[in-house]
Amino acid sequence: MHSISVSLLMLAIASAPSVALSQDQNPSFVEAGQHVIWSYPGLTPPQSLYDAISAGYVAGIIFFKENIGTNISDITDSFRTANEASPTKLPLLLMTDQEGGAVRRLEGEPVQNARQMCDNGTAAAEGAGAGENLRSVGMNMNLAPVLDVYRASGNFIDEYGRSFSNNATAVGICGVEFMEAQRATGVKSTVKHFPGLGTANVDQNTDLIAVTLNLTLSELRSIDEQPYYDAISAGAELVMASWAIYPALDPNLPAGFSSEIVQAELRGRLGFEGVTITDAIEARSLEPFGSYGDRAVLASQAGMDLIIASARDITQGWDIVTALADALNNDTLDTETFKDATKRIEKLRMSLA
Ligand SMILES: *[C@@H]1O[C@H](CO)[C@@H](O)[C@H](O)[C@H]1NC(C)=O
Ligand SMILES: *[C@@H]1O[C@H](CO)[C@@H](O)[C@H](O)[C@H]1NC(C)=O
Ligand SMILES: *[C@@H]1O[C@H](CO)[C@@H](O)[C@H](O)[C@H]1NC(C)=O
Ligand SMILES: *[C@@H]1O[C@H](CO)[C@@H](O)[C@H](O)[C@H]1NC(C)=O
Ligand SMILES: *[C@@H]1O[C@H](CO)[C@@H](O)[C@H](O)[C@H]1NC(C)=O
Repeated sequence: MHSISVSLLMLAIASAPSVALSQDQNPSFVEAGQHVIWSYPGLTPPQSLYDAISAGYVAGIIFFKENIGTNISDITDSFRTANEASPTKLPLLLMTDQEGGAVRRLEGEPVQNARQMCDNGTAAAEGAGAGENLRSVGMNMNLAPVLDVYRASGNFIDEYGRSFSNNATAVGICGVEFMEAQRATGVKSTVKHFPGLGTANVDQNTDLIAVTLNLTLSELRSIDEQPYYDAISAGAELVMASWAIYPALDPNLPAGFSSEIVQAELRGRLGFEGVTITDAIEARSLEPFGSYGDRAVLASQAGMDLIIASARDITQGWDIVTALADALNNDTLDTETFKDATKRIEKLRMSLA
C-alpha cells in the first residue's frame, strides 16, 4: 500500500502515465464517502463492503440484530483492519440502536427502557452499561439517547418506553445523565429525533408513512426542543433529525431535508456545532423525494452531515456515495459547505478512542 506522497513522488520521477491514486480510490468518492454510514445483510459482511472501506468510501457502519452473531467482535476488528488501507485512516464510526428495553440490537445493557431508567433514577448506570456493552464488541457510537418528550401514554415513542418522560425537564436531565455516562466509556451519543416525535400517534411511524406533526412553534420550542438545550450544553456529539414534517417550522419538508430546521433552528437558534445525522434514508415516508441518492443530496443540502444507508444493502451505500460525488462535481452541492461538514465528521472520528 502506497501513501499518496510516495505515489506522487513515483509519478514525478517516472513520469509514468499512471495516476497518484489508484483507480479504486476516486477522490470525490472518498470525499462523499466520509458522509455515508453503510449497512449489510446477515452474519457475513460481503467482500464488497470491505473493498469500499479500504477505498475510503465508508464513514461508518450501522449494525442490526441480524448482523450480531457470536463473532461480532471479530467482525468489527475486520472492518478496522480493512480501514487501515483507506486514504483517510480515521477510525470508523461503528454504531447501533442500543436505547434500552425492547430497542436493543445487542443482548445485555441497557436492560431497562428509557422510561424505567428515568423513573428509577438509573439513567447514568444504564448509559454506562450501554457504553461498556458497545465497547466490548468494538463499537464506538450509540444512536441513543432518545430526547422525545412523549405526550400520550402508549403513543409512538412511549409504546416501548423509549421516551424518558412526558416532562421535558426530566427528559433533559435523564438524557444528559445517560449521555455523560456513556461518554465516559468512550462511546459517542446521538440525541434524537430533532425537533421531536413526542406528539406522534402510535401509528405515525416515519419508517412506514408520511407524518406531519402540527404543533405550534411555542409548544415545539418550549417542550420538544427543551431537552436539546441541556444535551447541547452538555456536549452532545451528534443530533439525529426526524423525518416528520413540522408546519410551524417548515410546511413542506421533513426535518432532515429542511434547512429551516437543521440550519436555522438546530444550528442557529440552539447553537449546535457537532455532527448531524439522518434517520434511515430508506424510510417509506421519503418516497415522494426520489431515489436514495436524491434523498442523500437533499439531506446534505439541508445541512445533514452523515447519511444513514440502513437498508442492509451494499448497493444502497454505493448509490448514495455516487450521487453525493456527482452532486459535488456538478455543483448541486456547495463544495465549501460540504467540506465544513466533512471537517466536523473528521473531528468526531479523530476523537474516537
Ligand atoms: C463471522 O461468522 C460468520 C457466520 O458464521 C462468518 O461467515 C464470518 O466469516 C465470520 N467473520 C469473522 C470476521 O470472523
Ligand atoms: C425500575 O426498573 C425495573 C426493571 O429493572 C422495572 O421493572 C420497574 O418497572 C422500574 N420502575 C419504574 C418506576 O419504572
Ligand atoms: C418535571 O421534572 C422536574 C425535574 O425532575 C421536576 O422538578 C418538576 O417538578 C417536574 N414537573 C412536573 C410538572 O411534574
Ligand atoms: C395545523 O394547526 C393550525 C393552527 O392550529 C391549523 O390552522 C391548521 O389547519 C392545522 N393543519 C392541519 C393539517 O391540521
Ligand atoms: C447533479 O448530480 C445529481 C446527483 O447525481 C443529480 O441529481 C443532478 O440532477 C445533477 N445536476 C445537474 C445539473 O447535472
